[in-house]
Amino acid sequence: MDSKDIRPLLVKALEVRKNSYSPYSLYPVGAALLAEDGSIYTGCNMENVSYPASLCAERNALGSAIADGKRKFRAIAIVGSPEDYTMPCGICRQVLAEFHVPLILCGKSEDDYRTYTLEEIFPAAFTANELKKK
Ligand code: THU
Repeated sequence: MDSKDIRPLLVKALEVRKNSYSPYSLYPVGAALLAEDGSIYTGCNMENVSYPASLCAERNALGSAIADGKRKFRAIAIVGSPEDYTMPCGICRQVLAEFHVPLILCGKSEDDYRTYTLEEIFPAAFTANELKKK
């Protein structure tokens, strides 16, 4: 993926971060997921007073894409604190692996980001292949 495709994803992640519901952590996160057909789905984190009921930005973006019938993806951009390259949490890595999202773009801003492959940040994953071996 070249930078002309990456920038719009980061811009969308920054935009949707504004809608984050994060009154407990005060850590807003936005995510923008690029489907294989070029459509983009966004999500922000949504917290809950019962903390484990909270949902991350990445899984909300994936949920919207799946609900719209998309199953193949090219990349996801994630933007949290402007001081950090926010990395997906362990649960989100597992969910990103389920749908083979190959490229993870962790941004501080639309011009400042790091690129990771899913393999790099989630090696030796538990996959559907394991179930076939039982
Ligand atoms: N969070 C995300 O939405 N995505 C990440 O990649 C890391 C963490 C959220 C969960 C919680 O609402 C807040 O950030 C602080 O952990």
